[in-house]
Amino acid sequence: MIEDLDDLQKKAEDEIGAAGTESEFLAIRTRYLGRKGLLTGVLRNVGQVEPEKRPLFGKRCNEIKEALSEKIEKALERIADLEKEEIFLRDRIDVTLPGRKIKYGRSHPISQVCREICHIFAGFGFAVVEGPEVELDYYNFEALNIPKNHPARDMQDTFYIEDNIVLRTHTSPVQIRTMEKQRPPVRILSPGRVYRPDSDISHTPMFHQIEGLLVDRGITFGDLKGVLTSFVSQMFGADISLRFRPSFFPFTEPSAEVDMQCVMCRGEGCRVCSHSGWLEILGSGMVDPEVFKNVGYDPEEFTGFAFGLGLERIAMLKYGISDIRLFFENNMRFLEQF
Ligand code: FA5
Ligand code: MG
Repeated sequence: MIEDLDDLQKKAEDEIGAAGTESEFLAIRTRYLGRKGLLTGVLRNVGQVEPEKRPLFGKRCNEIKEALSEKIEKALERIADLEKEEIFLRDRIDVTLPGRKIKYGRSHPISQVCREICHIFAGFGFAVVEGPEVELDYYNFEALNIPKNHPARDMQDTFYIEDNIVLRTHTSPVQIRTMEKQRPPVRILSPGRVYRPDSDISHTPMFHQIEGLLVDRGITFGDLKGVLTSFVSQMFGADISLRFRPSFFPFTEPSAEVDMQCVMCRGEGCRVCSHSGWLEILGSGMVDPEVFKNVGYDPEEFTGFAFGLGLERIAMLKYGISDIRLFFENNMRFLEQF
């Protein structure tokens, strides 16, 4: 019997030596030391041992039990330590790594240029007002001296919502809405979206205009030239060339379109300026007496000027952008540059 114990111990120790994982050690512990384990079973048979050998037998059993227990406990502790170390290594932070940059949003280049223009005109005393994008035919055309079936309507292709309701083709209807509500002096600036079925490298179906209107006693075309020239030199620098080209709008008389030297080619002529060296940035003129009559202003008492500026054109010239469609593609690599 005592010899059997030696064999049992040897076998258990061999198994402990070969085991590696926590579950293997736990299995060995159950197999030898558990309630139905091998060693426990031997101890239970102590009755079969000769009486004089029983104390020695019991002592051996306890020795083996303690020795095995200790070995298994140590192994389990070692495994737990290794696991802790692994977790530590895996989860440790390298404080010397560079930080991750937070991405900041920013306003669209069109919004930035719009704000800049409003700021410059605020310096001339212009207040910002807004009008609806879905507009009555009356404000978009009729009150601006463009009657139904008049050929002047062809100047601005139009999206119709209903017979008498359009997506505004320009910001000029805000002139009428403003003058209907207030008496002169009027000095407003009105930025916003406008719509026309147009599309190429300098036209998009939705674009932005900024309308300007100044009405008072004794306003002349010289005032219009002065304000616009001063605006362009503040926006682009004093040396930039500007030209006033005679034009026609039903709601201004006389009318002029204003071109700026093309910054892409410096006036040489390129794809962007249709090889003319100039880019049209706005339409303008002295408010037509017919318009004043439509809002109840006396054309004998008051004069004024108005202009409608293409915001994208200004932004293209400001940043040297050759294709207007880039503004609306929402390509982050484009937008992040502003
Ligand atoms: C007008 O819209 C007039 N309402 C301007 C005006 C206001 C004249 C007040 C007199 C008094 P026009 O159609 O030319 O005019 O457009 C004005 C500007 O908008 C153009 O000079 C151009 O810069 C810009 N523009 C016109 N169509 C487009 C388009 N499809 N895409 C981008 N910009 C455009
Ligand atoms: Mg035009």
